[in-house]
Amino acid sequence: MTRFPRPAEGTWTEHHPELGTGPVSFEDSTSPAFYERERAAIFERAWLNVGRVEQLPRNGSYFTKNLPGLRTSVIVARNPDGRVRAFHNVCRHRGNKLVWEGTPRDETCGRARQFVCKYHGWRYDLDGACTYVHQPGEFFDLPEDGLGLAPIHSDIFAGFIFVNLARELRQTLRDYLGPMVGALEGYPFDAMTERYSFRAENDSNWKVFIDAFQEYYHVPPLHTHQLGPTPEAQNPEYEFEGAHYQLDGPHRLVTTSGTHKHHWPAEHLYPAEALTRSGSTGPWDAPDLGETLPGVNPSGISRWGIDNFQVFPNLEILIYERGWFVTYRYWPTSHNTHVFEGDLHFVPAKNARERLAHEYAALTFKEYGLQDCGTLDGTQMGLEQGAFDSFFLNDQEILVRHFHKTVGEWVDAFDRAQPGSPKR
Ligand code: FES
Ligand SMILES: [Fe+2]
Repeated sequence: MTRFPRPAEGTWTEHHPELGTGPVSFEDSTSPAFYERERAAIFERAWLNVGRVEQLPRNGSYFTKNLPGLRTSVIVARNPDGRVRAFHNVCRHRGNKLVWEGTPRDETCGRARQFVCKYHGWRYDLDGACTYVHQPGEFFDLPEDGLGLAPIHSDIFAGFIFVNLARELRQTLRDYLGPMVGALEGYPFDAMTERYSFRAENDSNWKVFIDAFQEYYHVPPLHTHQLGPTPEAQNPEYEFEGAHYQLDGPHRLVTTSGTHKHHWPAEHLYPAEALTRSGSTGPWDAPDLGETLPGVNPSGISRWGIDNFQVFPNLEILIYERGWFVTYRYWPTSHNTHVFEGDLHFVPAKNARERLAHEYAALTFKEYGLQDCGTLDGTQMGLEQGAFDSFFLNDQEILVRHFHKTVGEWVDAFDRAQPGSPKR
């Protein structure tokens, strides 16, 4: 059986002595108090992905994005100069939610010259400046300026729009992303504009679900059918495995390898896969994306399958060898609930066959997702039962170990920096 080489000596984990190899506590996934600290220490300070530039195709385009659990809605808009800006979605007059359609809880998007508050009619331009106050003479000492929307730090990397809720930035987006994720600059994400979106409210801590996607140790037992419908198809020749792990600051990468299904003998496939030429690793026929694809497969694996870039804290970008990509985002809403968003992106179909291949990949994604989601509340219940203080992680679970350590470090550093902290 082909095993891809681990680091020259030892294991993946032992190459990072700071991680240790001992059992790990998951109290960070069960404690309401820790959840509150985590929100302030991580989600109100880290760069968070809220969308893609393709959602703002023209000057004046805008969308709103709810950040569940953060009690925040953001307006992201492209101003008349083409610059993307982000604001708190709150009217300066009496705090009404400014931009919404349907109900204030729904997200919306569109194109506008200005935003008009539905309550008393104040108006704002796409740079957030207040341009109209209804009956201004009725107010007392209304300042000439300072009536604009509250801006939020925003920046763009490789077409991904990020915001940072901190009042004062500690790091630029590019510095924050570091060299491993930064190497994706120039990857043709912008060619993949046919999008399929899924959203789920899950009964588990957000980290419990992330943990399910940062190891492939669970694949043979949990996703048995995706490995192939016959025992022959599950032989080592077709083995799917986590072949490369990489850490960079708070971010992580796992690269998988395996024989792609389009190379399999037809008798090892589901009939629908052979018919649609698509399946769990996506459409078999890859679009032409050019010769060099920056940033992907950094370890040079010959049977490269998927790169899963895990951008701290809550974004994953999965780039498939077959020329499509998926993003996952996780928004904690309490210590034991979160909202999951999954988006699939393809080069737009040029004909019905390609469209069918995309649709079938999306369908298979949902089946996979349900299998992964299916264990979540069971894991959460088990952890909350408190039967064990710590748990054993193997070498393939190195990213789980790194993730929980990073979360703990961010929370500890934040606590230490608080005025009055005994650790300060
Ligand atoms: S709250 Fe927006 S105009 Fe009054
Ligand atoms: Fe899975």
